[in-house]
Amino acid sequence: MTNSTSASNERPLDMIIFGGGGDLAARKLLPALYMAHTHCNLPADTRILAIGRRDWTREDYLKNFMEEQSRSFIDAKAFDAQSWDKFLALFDYVRVDIENPGDFQRLAQAVRPNSQRVLYLSTSPELFVTICENLDAAGILDATSRVVLEKPLGHDLASARAINDAVGKHFKEEQIYRIDHYLGKETVQNLMVLRFGNAIFGPLWQAPYIKSVQITVSETVGVGSRAGFYDHTGALRDMVQNHLMQLLCIVAMEPPVSLDPDAVRDEKLKVLKSLRPMSVADIARDTVRGQYTAGAVGGEAVKGYLEEANVPPDSRAETFVALRAHINNWRWANVPFFLRTGKRMQNRRSEIVIDFADLPFSIIPDGPRHYGNRLTITLQPEESIQLQMMAKEPGSGMHMQPVTLNLDFQQAMKQRRAEAYERLLIDVIRGRLTHFMRRDELEAAWAWVEPILNGWKELGDRPRGYTAGTFGPAASSALMARENQAWAEEA
Ligand code: BG6
Repeated sequence: MTNSTSASNERPLDMIIFGGGGDLAARKLLPALYMAHTHCNLPADTRILAIGRRDWTREDYLKNFMEEQSRSFIDAKAFDAQSWDKFLALFDYVRVDIENPGDFQRLAQAVRPNSQRVLYLSTSPELFVTICENLDAAGILDATSRVVLEKPLGHDLASARAINDAVGKHFKEEQIYRIDHYLGKETVQNLMVLRFGNAIFGPLWQAPYIKSVQITVSETVGVGSRAGFYDHTGALRDMVQNHLMQLLCIVAMEPPVSLDPDAVRDEKLKVLKSLRPMSVADIARDTVRGQYTAGAVGGEAVKGYLEEANVPPDSRAETFVALRAHINNWRWANVPFFLRTGKRMQNRRSEIVIDFADLPFSIIPDGPRHYGNRLTITLQPEESIQLQMMAKEPGSGMHMQPVTLNLDFQQAMKQRRAEAYERLLIDVIRGRLTHFMRRDELEAAWAWVEPILNGWKELGDRPRGYTAGTFGPAASSALMARENQAWAEEA
């Protein structure tokens, strides 16, 4: 297959991937670029420079890394040997020790004089500053270069600011693409269309017509081989500070004036700034931390977190978080937002559940007033929207029962769904910033999350154990029950 050049990208593209021999490159970035290549979404004159520390030749990289590691992550149905060969031809490998400025000269030789440069930093964030300094010193950057920063961007507010300040010395804000791959998911983008492409939701999308919002991202996977990273990160930093808070923003934001990057990001920022700060007493009452213990997931016995490789025996890292958040603004006054995420849970599911208000008064004698309408937006594994309505039970008499309107997007729209990374990489190549985080957004999210981390330290208690394969600690259900609510699977 041949590639086409998008009108906005006449210049040759040099995509430079730091961490080119790393786990993310193998599992996500290279398969995403392969799919973009196969579907003719890379500019015609594209080159991909993989940067790594190993003393490899180009051929070593293609064989040891691309063939033997990355290729297996491409969907077998989408794989085409001819297209793969053409894809491999786009690659070069440059060995660079990031700490050694001299090595960047080798990279400077490898980029083409007039190319549009996209620098993807898929390394530990502690290296971002050195990479940017050395790139600049080697004359590789110009005013049109773009840099993609992988999460986690910092460990707390101060470290996030330090990274932003340092990167900001070499790139202007509009050159910086802070990636949160949830924003690249088709279903998450669809959430914006659901809200702002359907007039019927507008009047109801606020207090007092909405009683509560639940956002759940549950995973069945454990920490796997990532304990070194995960154990000093934990679920709050790994999932809540970015993915769940971004989902919350899209559910809660005011309609932006357009889809322009700043129009959307201004509205998300307002949500983040309106989050009610939590005191230590709030944290003790409104947050639940958990850590999985041995159990079974999908019928298979699995270890507890503390038994996983490279986890310290006394680790306090949380693998589960549930919390109740409030947004202090007119639209959402007194509407609780329940956020929950965890590893080794019963199923893999990301969903947003909107519970609408109770009937003000029921004329149907045996109809409980709180048998409410519920909108369930499932983001993964399947992509669907369900609306629970009340209907009359067939037969004589007026009895009601809940029934569900079910919209299955796979059935309704058969087009190919690109993976999040593919969509976001194409956005970077085309210079579209809407689905990336702006500096002030990232820092506002940290400003809300950091007191929770500090509060947990001050409270000094351990995360509560939950058996792998369940929905988390009992305290998570109690958090809901206190307000006469229940998580979707318990209702
Ligand atoms: C990543 C986290 O950002 O998202 C992982 O670091 C997590 O811990 C992953 O497993 C979940 O992403 P997805 O797309 O599988 O829901």
